[in-house]
Amino acid sequence: MKKADAVPFVSARGISKSFAGIEVLRDVDLDLAKGEIHALLGENGAGKSTFAKILAGIHLPTRGTLSLDGRTIEVSSPVAAQKLGITLIHQEPISFPDLSVAENLVLGRSEDGWFSRVPWAEMTIEAQRSMDLLGVHIDVARPMRGLSIADQQMVEIARALASDSRLIIMDEPTAPLTPREVETLFGIARRLRDEGRTIVFISHRLEEVRALCDRVTIFRDGDKVATDTIGNLSDVDIIRLMIGRPLKEYIHKHSAEIGEVALEVQGLTLPGVFHDISFSVRRGEIVGLGGLVGAGRTDVARAIFGVVPATGGVVKVDGKAVHIDEPEEAIALGIALVPEDRAAAGIFRTLPVEQNITAAVPDRIAPTGVIRRAIERSLAQDSVAKLRIRLASLNQPIGELSGGNQQKAILARWLLVDPSILILDEPTRGIDIGVKAEFYDMIGELASQGKAILLISSEMPELLALCDRVLVMAEGRLTAEIARSEASQERIMSAAVPRVEAAA
Ligand SMILES: Nc1ncnc2c1ncn2[C@@H]1O[C@H](COP(=O)(O)OP(=O)(O)OP(=O)(O)O)[C@@H](O)[C@H]1O
Ligand SMILES: [Mg+2]
Repeated sequence: MKKADAVPFVSARGISKSFAGIEVLRDVDLDLAKGEIHALLGENGAGKSTFAKILAGIHLPTRGTLSLDGRTIEVSSPVAAQKLGITLIHQEPISFPDLSVAENLVLGRSEDGWFSRVPWAEMTIEAQRSMDLLGVHIDVARPMRGLSIADQQMVEIARALASDSRLIIMDEPTAPLTPREVETLFGIARRLRDEGRTIVFISHRLEEVRALCDRVTIFRDGDKVATDTIGNLSDVDIIRLMIGRPLKEYIHKHSAEIGEVALEVQGLTLPGVFHDISFSVRRGEIVGLGGLVGAGRTDVARAIFGVVPATGGVVKVDGKAVHIDEPEEAIALGIALVPEDRAAAGIFRTLPVEQNITAAVPDRIAPTGVIRRAIERSLAQDSVAKLRIRLASLNQPIGELSGGNQQKAILARWLLVDPSILILDEPTRGIDIGVKAEFYDMIGELASQGKAILLISSEMPELLALCDRVLVMAEGRLTAEIARSEASQERIMSAAVPRVEAAA
């Protein structure tokens, strides 16, 4: 056991926060010790990110006080937070795409929040050292634009490390990382803890919280409902505290009748990205596409959907070869893609939730060309209820929703399209445990309506529970096709890990 410090390192007392009169955090008391990794858990919209942003000076609390080492502090801005040694690694990485990785790394670190006074050579060397420390191989002279989400996240983490923070808050940092990158990050987090720093870790993955964290605080609907040593709580305890109702158990895939081949790809190739990809998906079938982040799964999905078309190979829909050069053409053929990077792809941040949900079905909300508000409202209302989207009103700009609730709204948009072929890219990333089961039910139901579903997922339990077959990709190639009866975590993993050159 750790010895309890007399004065906690960080102490929050009576923290409340309202947005437009709606209270999203209520009287939160929370102590963080020096040298602990403290998890924040809770459903989508429970208030985790809001609390993190208050610690980091992005939001001011409506009421309540914060103290550091026993002294009351005003964290009135991110710069003030930085001076106090507090860094937040955002749920959605914020970066300057046209600046180099090195410039992004040092941004906001100097007194005046600008980097131009740091000599270029020194900055580059220091930036490279931070990346090396993380064990990440990214050229720091290249621009941020075009980096994968995983790499952007690593740059964010390196930035926090470089600024010598005493309190580092990581808001869902692991979602886009490969298992190896997660291990690297955990190694770094433990080392920082052992140096006496404090880490707040937000994640929807209980296994990760168990592997990394010393204590956990659970939020429900803006209230802090518990703080305890992780070892004192079972998964069932945690889930009960989080959702306040029994978890709906996802038993099994709905038994759908498997029909004709709806989508087939043969020898699909985009040089340098993926090679010779062949598979098919039948009506009523859920085909999983597993593999590590970066294996090329998203690229294959984007090629089929016409975002970046393949240069070789054939795509067939209902047995007929088709040319899809634009997403519009894919949609016309009955294909929908729910992209991985939902925050970047097609979210209209300042538009109401309702319009975001119905954006892909203009013909349903405006059958005569004029928008029928009542139809728009009722479609949006149904989606909100089905996916338990937490919001103040359907008129609220979607950008004000919590990360997970934005995800759900974009998911809802594509579920409304009623496609015959549905490609889902990491659909449950960032979605809380209480809603996952509902979502799996919906997918199962879509399959039993005869839709062909391609499910890209890095979550093994998801692939194993839902899919009739699991395809696996590694380094741009298909490495396995595993029948439901044969599928196991080990088989998927061993096909997902890139092979070391046999001759080496
Ligand atoms: N700028 C804002 N304006 C209005 N409401 C907001 C704003 N930011 C957050 N909220 C609301 O505060 C509540 C808590 O959101 P928060 O982002 O803290 O949730 P979270 O626990 O981080 O959820 P998730 O797991 O989905 O990331 C939500 O209902 C959200 O809609
Ligand atoms: Mg959040």
